[in-house]
Amino acid sequence: MGIEKNEQKRVTKIIRSSPSKKVANKPKYVQSKLVIGSKDVNKLIKCTKCGMTYSNQSNTDTLAHTKFHDLHLKGRKWSNNWGQDVHITSDLTAGLSVTPSLSQDDYIPDTAKIVMVRPNHTAEVNATLEIMTMVNNELSAPHDENSFWSKNKNAGKAFVYVKNGRAVGVITMEILEKNRGRWMIYKNKAIIQKARPQFILGISRIWVCKSERLQGIATKLVNAARQNTIFGEVVDKRFVSWSQPSDNGGKMALKYNSVKHGSGEILIPCYI
Ligand SMILES: CC(C)(COP(=O)(O)OP(=O)(O)OC[C@H]1O[C@@H](n2cnc3c(N)ncnc32)[C@H](O)[C@@H]1OP(=O)(O)O)[C@@H](O)C(=O)NCCC(=O)NCCS
Ligand SMILES: [Zn+2]
Repeated sequence: MGIEKNEQKRVTKIIRSSPSKKVANKPKYVQSKLVIGSKDVNKLIKCTKCGMTYSNQSNTDTLAHTKFHDLHLKGRKWSNNWGQDVHITSDLTAGLSVTPSLSQDDYIPDTAKIVMVRPNHTAEVNATLEIMTMVNNELSAPHDENSFWSKNKNAGKAFVYVKNGRAVGVITMEILEKNRGRWMIYKNKAIIQKARPQFILGISRIWVCKSERLQGIATKLVNAARQNTIFGEVVDKRFVSWSQPSDNGGKMALKYNSVKHGSGEILIPCYI
């Protein structure tokens, strides 16, 4: 016990002495790293492409990095049997169009398709949940906001953009209850407290893998979701809202369905 007490006193003294104070003959305490053999096991590296920090000395870490890296940059492998194909048409307002033609916004090449995730198909739900985990980590968003599309509740749907056998983009779209709509001022992200706009759909999450961004995939996903979330109804862009848009999400919302208020402010449709 006595020895322990003495040891405690010594430790307390070292901690209390200010590091900036110079004390004559003070022994130097140097923070050292654990070194085994000639390799530094604690050496961490940060991948500049996916942003993950990991140890290249550990097999588990290296494998985890490879998996995350591919998912983040190239999307997740997606079986051809997963999801129900959905179709998008360009002319959303007039189903009477005589010469229906797809605009650039809605064109999907032969190598790609958009599918709806079916809640009673476990494998496709789990694959989508895996993507959502990564998306939520990237956005620092809550992980418990999936049940509206993953359970058969008629509360929303998830859609996946599949390209060359990989899920390269995903959207989860919620059907909104009343009073959730808000306007957000684009330039400072402030929510206007007094107004209660009524929006019909809410984009809970939207994500496109890094190597496929800025090619219109997210736009096609929102368009597909507007046409296929509520059975038999095509929801106009003006009634689609965003959930706490990220910087990229805000830029997309600005182009997709922002409005200019009489005051000159640009407003983004949002929901809480
Ligand atoms: C936001 C995100 C889904 C956009 O996906 P995308 O497939 O690149 O989007 P699109 O190509 O359909 O972009 C549509 C428009 O949005 C705007 N836009 C999207 N991303 C932009 C960016 N990084 N910088 C500037 N404008 C951007 C552009 O105006 C673009 O149209 P244009 O290229 O014709 O000018 C994608 O950047 C992403 O996954 N980011 C990480 C997750 C995230 O932030 N999600 C949003 C949560 S609200
Ligand atoms: Zn990486």
